[in-house]
Amino acid sequence: MVPAAGRGERLGPGAPKALRELGGVPILVHAVRALLGARSVRTVVVAAPADGVPGVRALLDEHGLPGQLGKDVRVVAGGETRQESVRLALAALPEETEVVLVHDAARPLVPVEVIEAVAGAVAAGSDAVVPAVPLADTVKQVEPAARPGGPEPVVGTPERARLRAVQTPQGFRHRLLVDVHAKALAAEGTSDEAPVTDDAGLVERFGGRVVVVPGHEEAFKVTRPLDLVLAEAVLARRRAVDGF
Ligand code: CTP
Ligand code: MG
Repeated sequence: MVPAAGRGERLGPGAPKALRELGGVPILVHAVRALLGARSVRTVVVAAPADGVPGVRALLDEHGLPGQLGKDVRVVAGGETRQESVRLALAALPEETEVVLVHDAARPLVPVEVIEAVAGAVAAGSDAVVPAVPLADTVKQVEPAARPGGPEPVVGTPERARLRAVQTPQGFRHRLLVDVHAKALAAEGTSDEAPVTDDAGLVERFGGRVVVVPGHEEAFKVTRPLDLVLAEAVLARRRAVDGF
């Protein structure tokens, strides 16, 4: 499934991020094409902005998705948060689904090998699988500044070699993902723990083992304006190399 209901505030003013174009094609279409290009994917559920369901449906149809033969692409209304969007999309999956991949629309250039590696690891018995890459930068943990705008005190430096930046698609046993989303909904507002920012984080919080497989630098998330420049360059290189 593809959460695509975000506004893309950090990208700046304009259309919702998933509908912005990359090489003349909406970011969302790139992401859906990548998933449909994976042999193991049979159904794709897109969580669109709540007021944009017919528009997104039309967009996907208009871009005639290759490899769609025998595959089902559904569009549902997303929610206020990414977590809510994923929960709503989960409800639109066929009952008999065994493995679910959750893939950010905002990662349009994910290589098919990453998708297959995550799906393969779940099929091989892992409950929850995330693709991830080592960090280039050292990471500091800080506390709030004493005064607004002041310097933030550093309280620790986790060992960089043991940190990973996680990407999507994240893969799960269907029943486990439904279960942790239900638990998260039931627990909403009852805990002062920090909000969980990815689906694997829900598994960690509500019970289950998560493992990491190698991600890919081209699976980066389009978040800020500079990411669009990088994405255009990666796409241009692919088109030059193999007529992608
Ligand atoms: N997402 C969603 N529903 C929301 C919020 C986010 O489906 N209510 C999706 C986004 O569309 C995106 C993915 O979750 O594909 C990852 O989120 P992020 O990169 O943070 O995208 P946005 O929330 O759109 O961007 P920003 O945080 O800059 O506003
Ligand atoms: Mg966001």
